[in-house]
Amino acid sequence: MKVMVTGGGGFIGSHVVDMLVAAGYRVSVVDDLSTGRFENINPGANFYRVKIEDDDFGRVVERERPDVVIHHAAQVDVVRSLQEPLQDARINVLGAVNLLENCWRYRVGKVIYASSAAVYGDPVYLPVDEAHPVVPQSPYGVSKYTVEHYLRVYQELYGVRFTVLRYANVFGPRQNADGEGGVVAIFIDRLLKDKRVKIFGDGRQTRDFVYVGDVACANLAALERGDSEVLNISTGASLSVIDLFQLLKGLTGSSLEPEYCPPRPGDILHSCLANERAREVLGWSPRSTVEEGLRRTLDYYYNHNLTLRVSN
Ligand SMILES: NC(=O)c1ccc[n+]([C@@H]2O[C@H](COP(=O)([O-])OP(=O)(O)OC[C@H]3O[C@@H](n4cnc5c(N)ncnc54)[C@H](O)[C@@H]3O)[C@@H](O)[C@H]2O)c1
Repeated sequence: MKVMVTGGGGFIGSHVVDMLVAAGYRVSVVDDLSTGRFENINPGANFYRVKIEDDDFGRVVERERPDVVIHHAAQVDVVRSLQEPLQDARINVLGAVNLLENCWRYRVGKVIYASSAAVYGDPVYLPVDEAHPVVPQSPYGVSKYTVEHYLRVYQELYGVRFTVLRYANVFGPRQNADGEGGVVAIFIDRLLKDKRVKIFGDGRQTRDFVYVGDVACANLAALERGDSEVLNISTGASLSVIDLFQLLKGLTGSSLEPEYCPPRPGDILHSCLANERAREVLGWSPRSTVEEGLRRTLDYYYNHNLTLRVSN
């Protein structure tokens, strides 16, 4: 089977590519390296440095003729989507429409789409399941959700099958500190530089932190299963920001206390996604505990001696 991964030079996409290559799939990667890195791209994949919204993208699909496209390329910064909503929509909405146009033109069988918990907006109950109201609170959330509608329409009109995977807060090796859910990367960066971590609010806000390896597994499961489904990919468990800090403090041996700052307006207090549907439909379940995932993430940064890009 031939699989194309857009955003395969980025944090999550590159893990998906690694797993596909290891499993023997024929893999191509499309990425403009705007936030991704060339070093992330598995040498076993054919790489095209192309923007998904450009005409060149169609030429790549024509050449590669993938059976499945796994779509991770996106503008992923929520704050930037507020500052530059047009640019967010150009990449996330028009880029995805260009992708779908080329998928039906060149007979791609299926698109697996990386959506986000951001589509739900403020939870009205927890854990948030797929039947929860969808009221995105940012242009980023709107753009991610809009594409879910296009996927359904392209399936109905042209028979391009799809699976939507709505991710909780993904963490793991190669994460940039400035993307969505970058809190783990930011904390690690600060701790490894022996700097104090900033916590906004009292630190009791909770998140559902899912390890990137588990997210990659869900994508591979969706190659064969989950047609026409919208599925949360999460742990179904909550961890507070202060508990996350304490875990990382213990793992790094840091003695620094966090610096408490005023809460940021618009920050969601609690977020946790139910994953029963994905377990049932994909036969998938998250395997890594947060602590195991954090250990692997720290090992990566120790081994690579990398300096993360930080925004604060
Ligand atoms: N990280 C999370 O916690 C999280 C949560 C929910 C959903 N997601 C979704 O997962 C996907 C991957 O996110 P990530 O965290 O790995 O971010 P990332 O920034 O590491 O990856 C995005 C990749 O897309 C590439 N890209 C951006 N614009 C492009 C364009 N116009 N054309 C081609 N390539 C382009 C970037 O260079 C990068 O390699 C995104 O679609 C994001 O919305 C991420």
